Amino acid sequence: MADQIKTIGVLTSGGDAPGMNAAIRAVVRTAIARGLKVKGIERGYMGLLHEEIKDMQTRDVSDIIQRGGTVLGTARCPEFVKPEIQQKAADICKKHGIQGLVVIGGDGSYRGAQALARQGINTIGLPGTIDLDISCTDYTIGFDTAINTAMEAIDKVRDTSSSHERCSIIEVMGRNAGYIALWCGIANGAEDILIPENYDYDEQAIVNNIIEKRKMGKKHHIIINAEGIGHSNSMAKRIEAATGVETRATILGHMQRGGSPTCKDRYYASVMGAYAVDLLIQGKTKRVVGYKNGAFQDFDIEEALAMKKDIPEYSLEVSRVLSR
Ligand code: ADP
Ligand code: F6P
Repeated sequence: MADQIKTIGVLTSGGDAPGMNAAIRAVVRTAIARGLKVKGIERGYMGLLHEEIKDMQTRDVSDIIQRGGTVLGTARCPEFVKPEIQQKAADICKKHGIQGLVVIGGDGSYRGAQALARQGINTIGLPGTIDLDISCTDYTIGFDTAINTAMEAIDKVRDTSSSHERCSIIEVMGRNAGYIALWCGIANGAEDILIPENYDYDEQAIVNNIIEKRKMGKKHHIIINAEGIGHSNSMAKRIEAATGVETRATILGHMQRGGSPTCKDRYYASVMGAYAVDLLIQGKTKRVVGYKNGAFQDFDIEEALAMKKDIPEYSLEVSRVLSR
């Protein structure tokens, strides 16, 4: 086929996520196995604009599947919203013979990919974010590792919280989304889960819950607070003053983004990386790969970005029942 893609690029963009390396490895090895050349672009769109582009061979992705972070590096590149910058990036791709590009990142990175697709570069997005805040998919690369990391940390806080009969507010990442908070809240048996999607700022309800649970004989009170709500330290002071229960805040922070990816993140990222290359070989562009209703699927980027994702209310109800 005369117009079949011969060279593709791969980059990681936005916040790093465990499993990105497994995806890079899968893109590189699938491309080479299918007879394509593959170029790694360092530091996301920023590196693309600075032409930080290198040829990648099979051995260049050896020994990375088990590593956190991204071997290509990542960056935020605010100027990429400008059409003239997007045009420049597309010109650089063309100069380096890059006809297709796999972008591993979140919603923001997809918008960059969409812009490049408009400029004639075939692009495929892979969902790389610990936040799980991409609507077209039930799974994002890194979420599973992040929730397991956070869960283990929260178990440790719970040990000391119970020993001292304290209340602990533990703030988890997620930007404006509450999925990490919800999953850890249930997995760690939290007494309260505060998520930005439905938080009503009714602190009196939290205070009442702490007092009620004390009367029921609970020795700790774990509140998982999503970073989209934030202010955990000041919240701790107010709650301690209102309840008389010693209260501490712990902000887990960036440790949630690091570490060796779980089996699930390695497996899904590997399949998604291969899937992206196969879409490019089929001549597809402006698509994103997701895992939905039990299957790997692809969606138009524009449609994917327009989709809405709800927090499962039933899960929140379950958490309330189980934390009694
Ligand atoms: P994520 O991809 O995880 O959502 P960001 O929102 O920080 O992370 O976006 C990552 C990068 O994607 C940005 O630094 C920018 O380079 C690019 N990007 C974000 N929004 C847009 C947009 N509207 N148009 C073009 N590029 C964008
Ligand atoms: O999107 C991933 C994420 O870790 C969010 O959970 C968090 O809000 C943000 O990135 C933190 O970004 P930075 O690394 O720039 O502090």
